[in-house]
Amino acid sequence: MHLFSPKRENSISLKGVVQISHNSFFVFKDCLGKLFLKTGKDEKIHKSIVKNMIESNPYISKILKRYRIKPAIDTKALKELSGGHMNETCNIAMGVYDILSDSIKDKVDADSLKEASMLHDLGKVLIPSKILNKPAKLNSKERKIMNVHSTLGYELLKTQELSEETLALIKYHHQNLKHTGYPLLPEENTSSDIGVQIISIADKYSALREARVYRKKMSRLDALLVLYKEVREGKILPAVYDALVKYAKIYDN
Ligand SMILES: [Fe+2]
Ligand SMILES: [Fe+2]
Repeated sequence: MHLFSPKRENSISLKGVVQISHNSFFVFKDCLGKLFLKTGKDEKIHKSIVKNMIESNPYISKILKRYRIKPAIDTKALKELSGGHMNETCNIAMGVYDILSDSIKDKVDADSLKEASMLHDLGKVLIPSKILNKPAKLNSKERKIMNVHSTLGYELLKTQELSEETLALIKYHHQNLKHTGYPLLPEENTSSDIGVQIISIADKYSALREARVYRKKMSRLDALLVLYKEVREGKILPAVYDALVKYAKIYDN
């Protein structure tokens, strides 16, 4: 599935870039205002950016220690994710946002949604590739490690001058209306629920429509049916689901 292909790097207007370190950039806006992650050949730059992020936040090493994750940076995973899944998630999230009613849109900051959906799985650069690419179901220990990627993404980006709203969306992109996702939401948090709903449904739809090492890609209808089950379970807001259905009918053929 490719809903939007980023233009060639040399044709990009750098207007509105998100600066992730003082001399390098991860996220670009093209001339149409679409965001995408830079996926240049220079893995060394990416590695050093992530290394700087780790060094700027000592809490990251504590998390890695707690989960016994060897501190290694998987730039191959980052390259694959940024060129595919994170880019697609961003396109879907913004497409769903555009279709929603104004009263719902008012509760979400569109710029934060764009940035967050583009960066949401950045934490996977620190998840061991054995787990990330396991061609079978994860066991409970592996699942616990995998589930820490959203917190790791938040902690990596916390020191990079992103808005609180963007950071919250990255941290809670695996949460739902029933609050049964991860990590646990703080008790007072309800305001970002719509944004979380949009990023989460876009993330899931993108993942279901892609082949994984352990399963084939799903058809549009099957993917929508899987998500409809979550609507019935009260995890997804019907209005957000309806917007996804409309979006998929128009753009995902
Ligand atoms: Fe994720
Ligand atoms: Fe994702």
